[in-house]
Amino acid sequence: MTLKGKVALVTGSSQGIGQGIVLRLAQAGADVVINYRSHPEGAEETLEKVKAIGGKCYLAECPQSQAYTVQADLGNVDMVRELIAESIGHFGKLDILVNNAGIEKHAPFWDVTEADYDAVLNVNLKGVFFATQTFVQHLMETKRPGKIINISSVHEDLPFPNFTAYCVSKGGMKMFTRNLAVELGALGITINNVAPGAIETPINTKLLNDPEKLGALLKNIPLGRLGQPQDVASLVAFLASSNADYITGSTFFVDGGLLWNYQEQ
Ligand SMILES: NC(=O)c1ccc[n+]([C@@H]2O[C@H](COP(=O)([O-])OP(=O)(O)OC[C@H]3O[C@@H](n4cnc5c(N)ncnc54)[C@H](O)[C@@H]3O)[C@@H](O)[C@H]2O)c1
Repeated sequence: MTLKGKVALVTGSSQGIGQGIVLRLAQAGADVVINYRSHPEGAEETLEKVKAIGGKCYLAECPQSQAYTVQADLGNVDMVRELIAESIGHFGKLDILVNNAGIEKHAPFWDVTEADYDAVLNVNLKGVFFATQTFVQHLMETKRPGKIINISSVHEDLPFPNFTAYCVSKGGMKMFTRNLAVELGALGITINNVAPGAIETPINTKLLNDPEKLGALLKNIPLGRLGQPQDVASLVAFLASSNADYITGSTFFVDGGLLWNYQEQ
């Protein structure tokens, strides 16, 4: 599988799953845009890791992928549009968009503030909507096909008490993908969701530091472990490749079986 000659933008790729996706796409030969909001050092770390890939890529003839970092807040539509424009300005085009940036806020439903609701929906859904729109406009102008991969969550389907805004955003992402599969199909643009379960990243720091909660969660995961960013990234690389040309409008769960085994404690 090769992504040689392709250019990919991965939002929120200064750490966690986004960083793992950048590295996996670069290993497959893609040039990558690394986006960050407030941690240039994280973006720089991702960039250095891309440079270090060298002989570790999966291709017989290993190209040196190029990487470029761009600061942008995905909760701000003007910045989202500038991010796409700057990515295209740097590499000349974009072929793959990975909508990865996402946040969650914990609160019982009756205590959720308007500010927290807006923060979650702006990044997880509005930013995704307008990043995708700007990307699609670019593909239409240049008359080329493209691939969109959204990092959703098991919570696009599964209730998650005390995270209602997050679930609303990921549930919205599910319908976004189904709708666009229909609307963009004739343009040769595919769109799919990758829906992680519990992945070991900074978003789960609290959980990782709570042995009781972590133990209970692990009991709910048939494969008996948390996922790693590379578990998610390898599926993203497949969906970004020509091997997945006939796949659109679907959600693929990467959750160790959690979705079918979940019990609230
Ligand atoms: N880790 C999990 O267990 C898990 C499970 C299901 C879904 N997800 C989803 O995976 C995606 C990545 O999460 P992660 O686990 O790597 O979390 P993380 O907190 O480690 O990373 C999130 C990334 O998004 C970026 N980001 C947040 N707000 C942003 C903004 N306004 N503008 C630009 N970037 C912004 C952060 O800087 C960070 O790089 C999210 O969409 C999350 O909902 C994660």
